[in-house]
Amino acid sequence: KEIFLKDYMKPDYFFDTVDLQFQLGEEKTIVTSKIVVSPGVKGVSAPLVLHGRDLILLSIKVNGTELKSEEYTVNSRNLRLSTPPADVFNLEIVTEIYPQLNTSLEGLYKSTGNFCTQCEAEGFRKITYFQDRPDIMAKYTCCIEADKTLYPVLLSNGNLIEQGDLEGGKHYALWEDPFKKPSYLFALVAGQLDCRDDSFVTCSGRNVALRIWTPAQDLPKTAHAMYSLKAAMKWDEEVFGLEYDLDLFNIVVVPDFNMGAMENKSLNIFQSRLVLASPETATDGDYAAILGVVGHEYFHNWTGNRVTCRDWFQLTLKEGLTVFRDQEFSSDLGCRTVKRIADVSKLRIYQFPQDAGPMAHPIRPHSYIKMDNFYTVTVYEKGAEVVRMYKTMFGASGFRKGMDLYFQRHDGQAVTCEDFYAAMCDANNAQLPNFLQWYSQAGTPTVKVVSSYDPSSQIFSLKLTQEVPPTPGQPVKEPMFIPVAVGLVDSTGKDMPLTSIYSDGTLQTLSSDGQPVFTTVLQFKKKEEEFIFKNIPERPVPSLLRGYSAPVRLDSDLSESDLFFLLANDSDEFNRWEAGQVLARKLMLSLVADFQQQKTLVLNPKFVAGLRSVLRNTSLDKEFIAKAITLPGQGEIMDMMEVADPDAVHAVRNFIKQELALQLKEDLLAAVTSNRSSESYTFDHDSMARRALKNTCLAYLASLNEPDVTELALHEYKSATNMTEQFAALGALSQNPGQARDDALLDFYNKWQDDYLVVSKWFALQATSDIPGNVANVQKLLSHPAFDLRNPNKVYSLIGGFCGSPVNFHAKDGSGYRFLGEIVLQLDKINPQVASRMVSAFSRWRRYDETRQALAKAQLEMIVSADGLSENVYEIASKSLAD
Ligand code: ARG
Ligand code: ZN
Repeated sequence: KEIFLKDYMKPDYFFDTVDLQFQLGEEKTIVTSKIVVSPGVKGVSAPLVLHGRDLILLSIKVNGTELKSEEYTVNSRNLRLSTPPADVFNLEIVTEIYPQLNTSLEGLYKSTGNFCTQCEAEGFRKITYFQDRPDIMAKYTCCIEADKTLYPVLLSNGNLIEQGDLEGGKHYALWEDPFKKPSYLFALVAGQLDCRDDSFVTCSGRNVALRIWTPAQDLPKTAHAMYSLKAAMKWDEEVFGLEYDLDLFNIVVVPDFNMGAMENKSLNIFQSRLVLASPETATDGDYAAILGVVGHEYFHNWTGNRVTCRDWFQLTLKEGLTVFRDQEFSSDLGCRTVKRIADVSKLRIYQFPQDAGPMAHPIRPHSYIKMDNFYTVTVYEKGAEVVRMYKTMFGASGFRKGMDLYFQRHDGQAVTCEDFYAAMCDANNAQLPNFLQWYSQAGTPTVKVVSSYDPSSQIFSLKLTQEVPPTPGQPVKEPMFIPVAVGLVDSTGKDMPLTSIYSDGTLQTLSSDGQPVFTTVLQFKKKEEEFIFKNIPERPVPSLLRGYSAPVRLDSDLSESDLFFLLANDSDEFNRWEAGQVLARKLMLSLVADFQQQKTLVLNPKFVAGLRSVLRNTSLDKEFIAKAITLPGQGEIMDMMEVADPDAVHAVRNFIKQELALQLKEDLLAAVTSNRSSESYTFDHDSMARRALKNTCLAYLASLNEPDVTELALHEYKSATNMTEQFAALGALSQNPGQARDDALLDFYNKWQDDYLVVSKWFALQATSDIPGNVANVQKLLSHPAFDLRNPNKVYSLIGGFCGSPVNFHAKDGSGYRFLGEIVLQLDKINPQVASRMVSAFSRWRRYDETRQALAKAQLEMIVSADGLSENVYEIASKSLAD
């Protein structure tokens, strides 16, 4: 059943307090829920409809009296009270559930023997009958009873107010959360866990106990997460003036978890990969992800928990904003340009294809069948870009004013995206015409730029046009407000001072306190607009969309030599990288055309020279260099083609890689050897940048598949003292089929077989491999003793990883499609959320040639017609087949 934003209605009843009691058991768990209910309008009685799934109803009482069977109805989704009292009343419901059988990892379930919960979006209804919607905010208490030996640790939200022993070897703990919250933020954990204990003194001097809970053997691996948590708490105070509001903050690690992590009030739950790290077992990428996600979940305490969403359509209100906050946090702690490049790449690789496919939706969707399908890169990543545009328009201090007003107005409320927009605009006395279109229109806008210069009048002009492509259900689009940050670079490579812009009949004088302006933000809000710069003494090279100021595709008239010039000179480092990427994309596309016409491939020597000078430029940040010499991904290129051709793109990307490795071999070798280090591992930008450059260069060299580079990779593999370098060397060794590959993979497994997270990496490395016919290897790994279809991490590594290799997933014989089709149906029986994420790999099937289309479509048709299919998979598969 499809649910629409336009049908939102206020609830007829509110819940003031919720007192929960859990009797956790091996065969069954009994949940007692006592709710104080108040009617929205006193004296008027409407039916009260509660959500519930997979529950056994044991009893239901109103004001202490058991309801008679004619006073309520119950079906597989709802419990309905036809005539509840018209005034405040007590509702008491007892249900029975079976967490030990719950493989959906939603609601209350067991993971490696411990009880834990995941309630967002709609998992609370698998625990008890409830109005399971975020605009129902109540104060909760939670009493947990369980066997004391099996479950020594009992946790829930808020403060522990009582605990003690019970008869029969049991004990209990009573928790009280003083803050009102929606049901999706409820959490419970019970099990055998140890904790790392630390504390944080807040800006107002309160002492907060910090605890990270894991099985005892993993405790040493929680140091970095604890560091990240404390850094996040400090950062939020300094940058946003936001202080933590309780005396206790818990993080619990579980191996079985559908998503990354969850921001339950004062009881965050994380999948292990995003907490546990040691230099020997985790890479720099893992360390960075932990910092970002620990920050993200912590930041939700204000953006999400204190101020929450009115309904699930508003998800980006908390997620877009919180992703933006975690991006800024990571930027401030690391290197801003490098972080920006990583975030923009992620948007291009994952979000652009979604926005151009059958699942395209605005950051605030208009409808959904299953909300879980809308925890997407669009809602999260594009949503963060939309938040970033406010900051680009209003500056850091204007953005802060907007945030302050947002909290002043809405603390303790469940609100909408318009409320956020209004706070931002009101705090800055501004209006952003057509800006709200970002919340309702799907599709990536294209901005076309045509520049002209007139030497006699010294006028430089930029003519901008925008085009928002049609998307399912939205054939016609309105113009949007697009902030375009621009600088003009002179022939010596310096930014020209900008004095004024003329557009739309008005002249805007630019100056910031008498200081010259070098970058200005054009407010582009119509289908077509011209911006005129006066007093420009020579033809400049425009640096457009600096820092990627809007989530659009830019199509400019910059020439190849302009782009090489910007790559070498732009003061905006992001745009330096971008110039290289634009050049690489053009180059790859033209070589793909050559390949398809069976012409001999030749690499443009200017491109090689450009990358060589980047590689040799010692004034550049090493991680920036690593990013600048990395080619756009295969998906990015296929995305730009009329008909995506995975074989051609793969061949061309490999050709360029090998050609670069050959021609830059001396420089690459020098970069590998000069960036070795015997110091012990540290998580700081300089060391990570050094490793990133070394590893990128090693990967290039390994593509040559020559004995000397294999020897080098083997040497790096053996001498590595941290996982970042060891895993990169393993990746280098396994690029090409053969004995060196097989030996290295076997050696690595033998070394790490007892470490579940490292084994997941090992699965992922093999799964994503582009070696010919890899489907057979992946098929075989499915029955490897370390693999488990019930563990999402392993599924994402092996099956998700496989879909990340275009040549193998899109193999022309259909073997990749058949493999995924079968697995999706198996997975759907176990865990619909995970199955639905996997089936998404099919969604862009129309982008390929007819043979592939037919093969992929057959799998999708097989899936939608399967018996007992979940709504999750049904929504993605049927929308992929539509139109
Ligand atoms: N709110 C969590 C986060 O982004 C994600 C929860 C996702 N849950 C789900 N069922 N899709 O921090
Ligand atoms: Zn989040």
